[in-house]
Amino acid sequence: MSEIVIADKRFSLLLTSEKIQQQIELIAELMNDDLKNHEVIFIGVLNGVFMFAADLLKRIQFNAQISFVKVSSYQGMESGAKIKRLIGIDEELKGKTVIILEDIIDTGRTIEDIIEQIRGYRPEQIRVAVLLLKHEIYKSNLTIDYVGFRIPNRFVVGYGLDYLGYGRNLRNIYALEEGEL
Ligand code: IMP
Ligand code: MG
Repeated sequence: MSEIVIADKRFSLLLTSEKIQQQIELIAELMNDDLKNHEVIFIGVLNGVFMFAADLLKRIQFNAQISFVKVSSYQGMESGAKIKRLIGIDEELKGKTVIILEDIIDTGRTIEDIIEQIRGYRPEQIRVAVLLLKHEIYKSNLTIDYVGFRIPNRFVVGYGLDYLGYGRNLRNIYALEEGEL
């Protein structure tokens, strides 16, 4: 399928399933080299990451723990700014290598909030692996250790990512057609 429709929007094919799997294989190879002598816990950020996490983690060849968190947006009491609070960390992170798995980084605000909160658990180190990076938007100095694809600034769905809750089940990734939003 080179084009799909969700609700009122048309999306065209951006990344095929084959390309996605190839890139995940490369990330897994890097991690298998880099991380085998560390005490690793992977922490996936739901919902969007579920496909990326499953396909990546099947290729990890060292012993590691795996957990998932959610972020809930709520209004900060004093600043009025939106703060993203992490829900669901039950494991001990102290002294461990935490690998955060995310589906996509856009402005980077979500990942920065997540990193800050994980720091509070005193891990030995934190690394970030993301499938998609909107590199034209993301301007932070923060290093993203593992990047699947650098993509243009277009809204994408599929392979875990949604529009209005739909599209997560698609095996390919699709981008909103130009001029649609
Ligand atoms: P950021 O905080 O601006 O980096 O946005 C990150 C979050 O926004 C991601 O975890 C996604 O949930 C969502 N998001 C950003 N861009 C897209 C997109 O193109 N499609 C679907 N969700 C997106
Ligand atoms: Mg996400």
